[in-house]
Amino acid sequence: MDMSARPLVEVRDLQVNFVSREANVAAVNGVSFDLMPSEVLCIIGESGSGKSVTMRSILRLHPPRRTVIRGHIRVGDYDILSLSERAMNEVRGAVVSMVFQEPMTALDPVYRIGDQIAETVMRHEGCSHADAMARALELMELVKVPSPERRLRAFPHELSGGLRQRAMMAVALSCRPTLLLADEPTTALDATVQIQVLIMLRKLQRDFGMGVIFVTHDLGVAAQIADKVAVMYAGRIIEYGSVADVLMRPAHPYTLGLLSSTVHGQSRETEIEAIPGSPPDLRHLPPGCSFAPRCKFAIPACSASFPPLVAVGPNHAASCLRVDVVRQDSMALAS
Ligand SMILES: Nc1ncnc2c1ncn2[C@@H]1O[C@H](COP(=O)(O)OP(=O)(O)O)[C@@H](O)[C@H]1O
Ligand SMILES: [Mg+2]
Repeated sequence: MDMSARPLVEVRDLQVNFVSREANVAAVNGVSFDLMPSEVLCIIGESGSGKSVTMRSILRLHPPRRTVIRGHIRVGDYDILSLSERAMNEVRGAVVSMVFQEPMTALDPVYRIGDQIAETVMRHEGCSHADAMARALELMELVKVPSPERRLRAFPHELSGGLRQRAMMAVALSCRPTLLLADEPTTALDATVQIQVLIMLRKLQRDFGMGVIFVTHDLGVAAQIADKVAVMYAGRIIEYGSVADVLMRPAHPYTLGLLSSTVHGQSRETEIEAIPGSPPDLRHLPPGCSFAPRCKFAIPACSASFPPLVAVGPNHAASCLRVDVVRQDSMALAS
């Protein structure tokens, strides 16, 4: 990685609140990260930790009237949070595109796959329908859909889940985005198909030189696809680093807990040792570390104020007062 290059994406102190008459949901509470061009960042964390809200902020997909977004998001030369809606529409699909867990939310059930891809290509590039269809065929080959000519004429419901996922990827890649956001795109697939899609995605990412932010709650998936990993808890990144550092030498008790449950689940016959307790209520976040109430390492100071992210190695940071103690446990896990 060239450390002197300018990041493709810079997110600084992102805060997202959903405001209604009943409550104020603090979904994202000061998230910062960088993504270099051609890098894959995985965001991991339990359901409800703010992963999807962070991704949707980059495309400004939140309901505008009920959402308060603060902070700074830069993608390439675009200052995302200050763009007009019209400029934002140019960014969507052409610079940044997104794939989801459920392809049917991205694919229109009443149009043939080929027409949907061609439509996106024509809208952004203004080429002829014939050229756009030729491009659609190329894209279907690129995402390794078998018998692509025939599948171009198919409707989304005529494809299997795995093929729909690939077709959605073809739509997302149709305008050669510099940044692909992937929100649990393989979660609904069975294990074999999931691996095939991940291998394909990794190859496309390298061939296109695309930056990718990939959200998953599955550490095995993160290990397959990531260069670096951000672990989210209650709307904050609580650990951040290379995939090897975070998954092999975790420094935050929450990451350690996620890893212990996975290791036990896969290599032993015992029950998965889930982290006891449940995530905090985002309408009433505690003042200190939001993981402290569930943490076996917690001391009184943990509940006083939110611990800052501290460096625990080169390009590896965790927000925990008890890093030294946690790392002794983490060594034991690795051995
Ligand atoms: N449009 C919305 N209005 C109100 N609350 C929302 C909205 N979108 C997400 N949330 C809440 O924000 C929190 C984080 O959600 P999300 O980012 O989807 O979690 P995950 O990490 O599972 O992707 C959840 O408590 C969710 O209910
Ligand atoms: Mg989500």
